[in-house]
Amino acid sequence: MTKLTEQAEWQALLAHQKIIAPYRMQDWFIDDPERFSRFSLAVGEILLDYSKNRVTEETIQLLNQLANAAGLHEKINGLFSGEALNRTEKRPALHTALRAPETNAVFVNGQNIIPTVHATLKKMRQFSDKLRNKTWIGVTGKPIRDIVNIGIGGSHLGPLMAVSALADYAQEDMHCHFISNIDSAHLHAVLKQLNPESTLFIISSKSFTTLETMTNAETLKHWLQNQLKTQDISKHFIAVTAASEKALAFGIPKENIFELWDWVGGRYSIWSAIGLPLALMVGMDNFSQFLAGAHAMDQHFQQAEFIHNMPVLLGLLGIWYINFFGTSHHAIVPYSHPLHYLRSHIQQLDMESNGKNVTQDGEPIHFLTGPVILGEQGCNGQHAFHQLFHQGNHLIPVDFILVGKGKDELEHHHSILIGSGLSQAKALMQGRTYAEAFAELSVEKGTLEEREQLAKHKTVAGNKPSNLIFLDRLTPYNLGSLIALYEHKIFVQGAIWDINSFDQWGVELGKDLLPPILNDLNAQNKTSHDSSTKGLIQHYKTLRKKS
Ligand code: F6P
Repeated sequence: MTKLTEQAEWQALLAHQKIIAPYRMQDWFIDDPERFSRFSLAVGEILLDYSKNRVTEETIQLLNQLANAAGLHEKINGLFSGEALNRTEKRPALHTALRAPETNAVFVNGQNIIPTVHATLKKMRQFSDKLRNKTWIGVTGKPIRDIVNIGIGGSHLGPLMAVSALADYAQEDMHCHFISNIDSAHLHAVLKQLNPESTLFIISSKSFTTLETMTNAETLKHWLQNQLKTQDISKHFIAVTAASEKALAFGIPKENIFELWDWVGGRYSIWSAIGLPLALMVGMDNFSQFLAGAHAMDQHFQQAEFIHNMPVLLGLLGIWYINFFGTSHHAIVPYSHPLHYLRSHIQQLDMESNGKNVTQDGEPIHFLTGPVILGEQGCNGQHAFHQLFHQGNHLIPVDFILVGKGKDELEHHHSILIGSGLSQAKALMQGRTYAEAFAELSVEKGTLEEREQLAKHKTVAGNKPSNLIFLDRLTPYNLGSLIALYEHKIFVQGAIWDINSFDQWGVELGKDLLPPILNDLNAQNKTSHDSSTKGLIQHYKTLRKKS
């Protein structure tokens, strides 16, 4: 097969970029009052305005041709039908099956997995109902009020993001906490808030071997046993895992184990029982809505023509900037406090999926793939790092995410919030010319020379791209659609780059290097290390001895 960069469609985009680069979006908006309606679309209650991008209709057509040439249609079908797209681990990536209706059928090794998925959802419902209506009682007879999720990576960020996003839907007498880090400072901070008698721990680990999670789980088991003066943890510990034999060995009773499958990637697992903290906090009806919203986005992704397909468009726009303008970063900026962990979740989704440098066939890739994801909730980011977006020489496309209507929001606060998001997007696009900056400076601002000087600093180039994703409301359904939108955007990019978006061998290297370093930190130096690692190990040991 011809290399991607040698294909005619790629070459056509390279040539097209040279034509487009000198144009300013500002002028396109002046020339075309219909630009917003021509470059925006809605799926359910999510509106995407992509008019503030350095694209014309021709650009979209050329990107569409690239998608076709890369076999995106076939790859989307492969994703949903359970093809083993994760070739290095010889398995499919079937997170979409987790949100499919009971009537669907998806086969893995000749077996329809949908009944198993729904059996687990039913088990989640039964457990969630018992916990929420206080018929699940702790070992000393108290109902559960605090839930602590022990997990890391995908077994942490998805639930953290979703529980925070849907806080308005949570049962008021219940609290959810998250312990991910091995740093005992994290553990102590959470333990201070807990009454062991009314606390439930959920060990969330697909592998049930992740060092951070298992170390925290062991410490917390002992803490609970000591506090309650019993070995019986059955009413206080739950496991979500694909390795149930390991959970049993840890001491979790079979009925407290929620199944996960190897065809669900960690960072795509929020739709499974890894979402249990969310289900417990907001109830299973809301969790079902969350799944339904994601399923609606799945259907749109599968069925809509590429030029009207929201995840495909977002994926292609990303490729346009990364591969044809050389951008390496992408910002996620939700103007919504409940969405403040969205960036962290998308960061793992995108960077762990598409931070790859070989094709599925192992051929080296010499262009940039997945972007560095950064961001912060608006307006906080505005007063911190947006400066670089506006006047730095980096080109950093931004996704602004706005929510039209929140719960109990103060009208005047909300309009400032929305207005701020809109004005940031406008400022990025429009900028401020030198002439405008100079004209704004009154004579009191100094001499002519001083004003000319200052105007140079106040000039903002503009022509910086952004997408505006506008949710009518932040409901479980819309949150599901939004997360699925990003999952599929990332899939589109991985499919076009022909990389495996579902493995993470780079992460494994760090895990492999840890045990010998740990040995040497805790005991005699037995392993030969580079001088830096060796020096730092010695430095740490000396510090510990002193204290
Ligand atoms: O460190 C990478 C990773 O494998 C992630 O992909 C995963 O979400 C996380 O670790 C946690 O893994 P587990 O759920 O098996 O504990």
